[in-house]
Amino acid sequence: MSHNHEALKEYYGRVLSGTGDLKTNACCSEPNTMPLPARDILKLIDQEITDRFYGCGSPIPASLDGCTVLDLGCGTGRDTYILSGLVGKNGLVIGIDMTDEQLSVARRYLPSMMEKLGFQQAPNVEFRSGYIEKLQCLGIESESVDVVVSNCVINLSPYKREVFKEIFRVLKPGGELLFSDVFSGQRIPESLKDDPVLLGECLSGALYIEDFRRLLNELGCSDYRLLSKAPVTINNPEIEAKIGGIAFYSMTIRAFKLDNLEDICEDYGQIAAYKGTVSGYPHSFQLDDHHRFITGKPERVCGNTAAMLQDTRLGTHFTIQGTRKVHYGPFDCASGCDDREPAGTCC
Ligand SMILES: C[S@@+](CC[C@H](N)C(=O)[O-])C[C@H]1O[C@@H](n2cnc3c(N)ncnc32)[C@H](O)[C@@H]1O
Repeated sequence: MSHNHEALKEYYGRVLSGTGDLKTNACCSEPNTMPLPARDILKLIDQEITDRFYGCGSPIPASLDGCTVLDLGCGTGRDTYILSGLVGKNGLVIGIDMTDEQLSVARRYLPSMMEKLGFQQAPNVEFRSGYIEKLQCLGIESESVDVVVSNCVINLSPYKREVFKEIFRVLKPGGELLFSDVFSGQRIPESLKDDPVLLGECLSGALYIEDFRRLLNELGCSDYRLLSKAPVTINNPEIEAKIGGIAFYSMTIRAFKLDNLEDICEDYGQIAAYKGTVSGYPHSFQLDDHHRFITGKPERVCGNTAAMLQDTRLGTHFTIQGTRKVHYGPFDCASGCDDREPAGTCC
């Protein structure tokens, strides 16, 4: 593919042999947001896998039972195995990575992990070797996947448009992308982009967040939601000197494949109520950093939020009153949701 791919295979395959070899905190600044059911599965995962975890967040969605999930850039498979436990015996998780050394660790533990999770008769995990820009070559058909996750990988791709295009191709209508990644507060100068350490440490490939928004818009996704955003601390004077004053953030973002999303929140008088039925979340459900639905409590929502809760796999867990038949103008954020920092579109 590109010389960046080769540099990264070298970095993740041979330079790094564990989180202790990382030169910055960018690839391991995981905020403690992992859902409880996932934490229980994490306890079952072997140390060699977790020692080589280089993620920057917890892109582990809820309500996965029976789902087909793709883990892009799965590395040694920590998240893949957590997802395996969550999709259950009727689900399937496909972990994809281009670095043989990473995949060989992931594959070595497949039999024992399937046994621990109770799926030894019919394993629900596959690891495939290849590029996340070329999912077609890995046999991933269009509209075949319920959820795509990725943890600190897309920043590394020199072909980000292709990655997101492929994601939206393979997702079923209403499917979800949930990913954690490093983003930058400004565009990264060309002169830094090919530095193998800055690239491998998930810094110089980071997308400027506004360019990410533009890219998703161009690909037809006009609203995505921020779940968490934390500054990345580099803690390496040499690298800080190279990178100058650029700010980096570890962000977890959710986007749905829906064709009825609008570029600002619009008010159709719709009301959403959470039924309390997502496994592990009896009291409330968090859609994003400013929508937490308390079980049974009706909340005014914009048209986009209503679509995310109704026309996706979350639909069975919410009741939505109202349709888009009558429009009442832009959605009044002050009364409909709290006033934290905006993400894609939503107030
Ligand atoms: C920072 S590590 C994260 C690994 C894993 N998600 C985790 O949380 O431990 C990045 C991984 O993405 C893989 N990767 C990077 N670019 C890729 C690409 N274009 N196609 C496939 N895998 C890629 C690397 O081989 C590496 O294993």
